[in-house]
Amino acid sequence: MVDIHCHILPGFDDGSDNIEESLRMARIAAGGGTKAMIVTPHSNIPNSYQNYLDKLYVDTFKELKAKIKEHNIPIDIYPGHEIFATDDLIEPIKRKRLLTLCNSDYPLVEFGFKERSESVYKKLQILVAEGLTPIVAHPERYAFVAENGSAPLMLKKIGCLLQLNKGSLKNKFGENAYAVSQAIIRHEIADFVASDAHSPYMRTPYLADAYEIVCELHSVQYADLLLNVNPEKVLKNEKIK
Ligand SMILES: [Fe+2]
Repeated sequence: MVDIHCHILPGFDDGSDNIEESLRMARIAAGGGTKAMIVTPHSNIPNSYQNYLDKLYVDTFKELKAKIKEHNIPIDIYPGHEIFATDDLIEPIKRKRLLTLCNSDYPLVEFGFKERSESVYKKLQILVAEGLTPIVAHPERYAFVAENGSAPLMLKKIGCLLQLNKGSLKNKFGENAYAVSQAIIRHEIADFVASDAHSPYMRTPYLADAYEIVCELHSVQYADLLLNVNPEKVLKNEKIK
């Protein structure tokens, strides 16, 4: 499997605190059948995690990659950001101050949990108009989705792809996120399931259980699409239908 959403880069956000925790996370991921991860520290959050690409990001990424290899953990890592959507998002993406997933045309985008749908749609439409295909991180966790059953389809209609969190499918983020994530799977509107892992203790990068849940809710083929096929296409920057 390929995990497209993981806070494993140490010291950048509320994810891994240090390289030892990151290595434990990498081991857990490998033990669950993950062979590649895109590191996605929070970024562009006003008055919070900014994390625009800089030397520290590049050096830390290289160090983590080298340590994973040194410890013989069978995981490849690739660069990325989880980008908090603001009105002026496109310029920092174009100038590569904010990274798309593995330098593809797929930015991973998150919103405020209570942001209104009009504001979300407007920001996403700007990215689509620039030729990008935004991947909406955990749509099942947003209030505007919980309040409006057609919101996931609207996000797809705009031209986005949807990434569900493992934790939502395991009922770790409340009843709304649990119910919406199941509905999105059953209606085949999801494009990815990822860990959104923050530590080796809770919200871990172990994905085998998420794969099993999708198999139970839908099918093995769909679990493969969400955790193998589509994430591989992101790594190769191939088109996803
Ligand atoms: Fe995240």
